[in-house]
Amino acid sequence: MNVLLIGGGGREHALAWKIAQSSLLDELYVSPGNPGTVRHGRNVELDLKDQKALRRFLLEKRIRIVVVGPETPLVEGLHDRIAADPELAGHVTVIGPKQAGARLEGSKEFAKEFMFRHNIPTATFRAFGKDQLKEAIEHVERMAPPYVIKADGLAQGKGVVIAADQKEAVRTLKDMLGSGRFGAAGERVVIEQFLEGIELSAFLITDGEAFKMLPAAKDYKRIGDGDTGPNTGGMGAVSPVPFADKEFMQKVHDRVAAPTIRGLREEGIPYQGFLFMGLMNVNGEPYVIEYNVRLGDPETEAILPRLRSDLLDLFEGISSGTLSERHVDVDDRTCATVVLASEGYPGTYEKGRAILGLDQVREAHVFQAGTAEKGGALVTEGGRVLAVTAFGKDTEQAIMQVYRSVMLIDFEGKQYRSDIGHDLVRVPAVRPGAPQQA
Ligand code: AMP
Ligand code: GLY
Repeated sequence: MNVLLIGGGGREHALAWKIAQSSLLDELYVSPGNPGTVRHGRNVELDLKDQKALRRFLLEKRIRIVVVGPETPLVEGLHDRIAADPELAGHVTVIGPKQAGARLEGSKEFAKEFMFRHNIPTATFRAFGKDQLKEAIEHVERMAPPYVIKADGLAQGKGVVIAADQKEAVRTLKDMLGSGRFGAAGERVVIEQFLEGIELSAFLITDGEAFKMLPAAKDYKRIGDGDTGPNTGGMGAVSPVPFADKEFMQKVHDRVAAPTIRGLREEGIPYQGFLFMGLMNVNGEPYVIEYNVRLGDPETEAILPRLRSDLLDLFEGISSGTLSERHVDVDDRTCATVVLASEGYPGTYEKGRAILGLDQVREAHVFQAGTAEKGGALVTEGGRVLAVTAFGKDTEQAIMQVYRSVMLIDFEGKQYRSDIGHDLVRVPAVRPGAPQQA
């Protein structure tokens, strides 16, 4: 079957790599793709907003499956447009929800209300509109710090502020509701209870009826070692997550995943594709921080290598509504992913720097995120440039392996976190050969 994959980052390179391994695949097209995806399919430039051109492409190339990597096309209704097109309906399956389902990510207020309607554990919250700045400030004055303030709409991961004191909280509210700095995304804000715990990313795939849990991963969001500095899209990932043991993941399945899929069905919201549950483990209990209607980046680069099942077989299960009969088989080894970023990221960064050493890497997958080809050479193009993934029999081995490969790759200004996964490795209480304590 022929597949179109939408997107051009590290997540999409990992998806293209995985899809290309399927015995069910005939042709893979990636739009826009990147120099990494070229090795697994054909890159094409499609204007997704041009319905006529999109329709022509899908028909001409006999595309059966459209896999949408990022959230924006889904929130903007790409799935709805394909489904409503009489020439495409019935021929093309979109992996990713329609607009109604994409609101789980597109509107924080919608997501919070949905969770409360379906008894899904999450922080308590209140939402305020543009004309309620005074009420929002009064609300904050009644609360204890820290304050979690979120712009309602999509804000490229920059719409969440954790304010340490009231002064900062009030300034943030004025910024969001008063000044319009976040545009339409900030016209409403959500103020939530602060959750104390450890974060992880859980994933499922669903055809709207059945769902299958995919491997969970821990994402490292801050730019600096020891979780310091500004937030990024994610600087590394580890899968599985040792603190998300069987018992915890069963709770995620029963209390979060199952009621979410049931709730969508009950509300008549069709949903097919991936669902990303951003969770906080609070004393062994899962709370939802956010939903995303797609896979995570760089989590995908750490979970797809562990997936033994044929991804296209799962997509076919979505297409025919028979996902319940498919099997998700997972490698129980650990994957560690380290992101190599450009100098200056997550602020403004340099581009066009030559990337060297990729041919030296033997024991890791290198997924390309922000790269370009210039005069036959591979150069940096985005903030996050590469995602390097290695396997190990446990977290410690995976970390050692991935950093050995990271050392082989170079470009001017390369920055990466040197502590990915370090918090997950338990230092043995008694080392072999060390004197035993009485
Ligand atoms: P979000 O974009 O909703 O994932 O939020 C960005 C980050 O803010 C999360 O990854 C968490 O680290 C943090 N965060 C969001 N909501 C809360 C909360 N209620 N309590 C504590 N931290 C939070
Ligand atoms: N790594 C977090 C995300 O993809 O949103």
